[in-house]
Amino acid sequence: MNSSPITVNPLREGIANRLAPEPCTLVIFGATGDLTHRKLIPALYNLAAEGALPPAITIIGFARREKTTEEFRAELEASTRRFSRTPVSDDLWKSFASSIVYHRSAFDDAEGYKQLAFAMEEADQKRGTGGNRLYYLAVAPDQFPIILSQLRESGLSGATSGSWSRVIVEKPFGTDLASAKELNSLVNEVFPESDTYRIDHYLGKETAQNIMVLRFANSIFESLWNSNHISHVQITAVEPLGVEGRAGYYDKSGAMRDMVQNHLLQLLTLTTMEPPTSLSADAIRDEKVKVLRSLRPLKGEDVFRHVVRAQYKEGLINGQPVPGYRDAEGVPKDSTTETYVALQVNIDNWRWAGVPFFIRTAKRMPKGGSEIAITFKSVPRVLFNKNEEPLDENVLVIRIQPDEGVSLRMSAKRPGSSLRIEPVKMDFHYGTSFGKATPEAYERLLLDAMSGDATLFARRDEVEEAWAFVDGIEDAWKTRSDDLAFHAAGSWGPAEATELAARHGVTWRRM
Ligand SMILES: NC(=O)c1ccc[n+]([C@@H]2O[C@H](COP(=O)([O-])OP(=O)(O)OC[C@H]3O[C@@H](n4cnc5c(N)ncnc54)[C@H](OP(=O)(O)O)[C@@H]3O)[C@@H](O)[C@H]2O)c1
Repeated sequence: MNSSPITVNPLREGIANRLAPEPCTLVIFGATGDLTHRKLIPALYNLAAEGALPPAITIIGFARREKTTEEFRAELEASTRRFSRTPVSDDLWKSFASSIVYHRSAFDDAEGYKQLAFAMEEADQKRGTGGNRLYYLAVAPDQFPIILSQLRESGLSGATSGSWSRVIVEKPFGTDLASAKELNSLVNEVFPESDTYRIDHYLGKETAQNIMVLRFANSIFESLWNSNHISHVQITAVEPLGVEGRAGYYDKSGAMRDMVQNHLLQLLTLTTMEPPTSLSADAIRDEKVKVLRSLRPLKGEDVFRHVVRAQYKEGLINGQPVPGYRDAEGVPKDSTTETYVALQVNIDNWRWAGVPFFIRTAKRMPKGGSEIAITFKSVPRVLFNKNEEPLDENVLVIRIQPDEGVSLRMSAKRPGSSLRIEPVKMDFHYGTSFGKATPEAYERLLLDAMSGDATLFARRDEVEEAWAFVDGIEDAWKTRSDDLAFHAAGSWGPAEATELAARHGVTWRRM
């Protein structure tokens, strides 16, 4: 696990489970928006730079503003130069941009979809995109119904023989179980589940994918991966940022809906699921759903024993004063929305019985990062561990971001004539071991959708099971608000969360 690279036998580099991306027309609804500029087009450009895009592709940007294709390309070039993870080459941009077309229409204008059909047919003929369609709904969820119904009415959602038609849906997938079910039914009335790709960008991150490889491609971990050897697990995703102009959305959502329902429960399922019967999308997602079904429900008074919600007040981040949440623009002065949440959950199945899991996410923390920390049980209190001060436990940390990698804390003897045992770290960093930057999550996810691989996308039942769990907590929160704790921005959270962990003999990790 040291960070020195291991020589890879070229024959073994082919142990890949990847389908090839197929020629297609990608239609981005909401193409003048932030997501398209910040993430989607830079991701597509980087795929082009790596030669990973399908041999034929047309990207049609669908939005309401008046502009020409030339203007649209110029705007995208500026944002790609700003947000791309690799420098933009003039020549490559030119050839990539030639595949981009702007299509101006309102989402509810039937004529706009007729024109879209012509544009796609033209692309099929001129560029050989083969009738395949990938629709990306990069829009707020309240726009989904109108786009989906227009796609159906105009006959564009169905695939012609020998081709496919898929839809990518952005989060949030509803705001509770009822709305998620409604949204899922709506999507599935137009696109079958097998053609529905619900993006959870955490699943596109390299380290999230590496959780399965770590567990099931190494013999040393899986035999220890259970309640006999693991004392507890902490899953954390925190950031120093505040609401950053997203108050309208965030104040209605809060940390539980924004982060726990999707990203953190996804990481929990990957960490704890049973080995799937194969690497097929459904085999993996079947196992993840079983974990969600085994989560001990948190309801009523239990919520106040197992969940801490809090809000940040003014404080210091990197020595700079920052205002409290209620003073952020657009946030009501009496808002009770949680910007911090810590949960202790249990998975009631054979493997995990009795192991407490701690999940935490927050804004305005001293540092940002996401990780999964697996703490193993201590060695018996004999031999080296019989002193009053116990030895540190072994901790395996899977760093999702930043500095993706894996580290293992273990005990070692400090050199010298006396016997002093200290914790040391074995560290694997993606960047140094593989010598190249990890791709952005959207790169992988876009490619998978073009290839028909839904493994890294959330299935309908996963989303609904996660909401069923979160709804129990949200329902209890509606009954009172006196449990809302506060902490200073730039601190590691409220005392109540420290107590929650301490009840299990656990201390939250500083990242
Ligand atoms: N931004 C991110 O980094 C990010 C990250 C994760 C998830 N998301 C999710 O992605 C979705 C899109 O977010 P965003 O930040 O890109 O939103 P945004 O900046 O508000 O963009 C909305 C887009 O929708 C278009 N639009 C809205 N109403 C329209 C209508 N009636 N007819 C035609 N076009 C219309 C707008 O076009 P005009 O400007 O031409 O009107 C614009 O292109 C949201 O669900 C968000 O939660 C965003």
